[in-house]
Amino acid sequence: MLNTQSLVRHCLAASLMLASFMAPPASLATTKSYSAPADTVQLKASALPGFAKASVCYACHSAEYIAYQPPTAARPYWNAMVNRMKKVFNAPVQEEDIPEIVDYLVKTYGNEQPNEQPK
Ligand code: HEC
Repeated sequence: MLNTQSLVRHCLAASLMLASFMAPPASLATTKSYSAPADTVQLKASALPGFAKASVCYACHSAEYIAYQPPTAARPYWNAMVNRMKKVFNAPVQEEDIPEIVDYLVKTYGNEQPNEQPK
């Protein structure tokens, strides 16, 4: 069991560690200007009903994440992705809209694109 003295020592060590972690050396603390590239990638337009429904995907990020997924990604991958967005990040995706959104994603970005060879 910890006695008071060792507890104090323990806390002191922890806060010293934290302080050195939080205070960067002066060289790192100088202000640098940085402009991020515009994060404005839009979803590819489509006549599929899932296209309009996928606009909920903009709530947190642009379509850039979606556009960077491998074109070999199959339906179960997209289904898992949409479910992950819903369950992990609380994306406002209606359960009944998921099949159409997944259908749009796999046919627009995944391995069911019209010009894609069947795998
Ligand atoms: C509530 C916020 C939110 C919404 C809405 C949302 N996402 Fe995400 N998404 C995130 C976050 C946060 C990340 C990055 C974190 C990560 O990668 O774990 C992410 C990352 C991604 C990625 C990158 C790959 C990955 O696993 O990180 C893809 C693809 C993606 N989202 C697709 C979608 C699609 C498709 C939709 C619409 C159905 C959607 N997102 C809606 C929060 C959201």
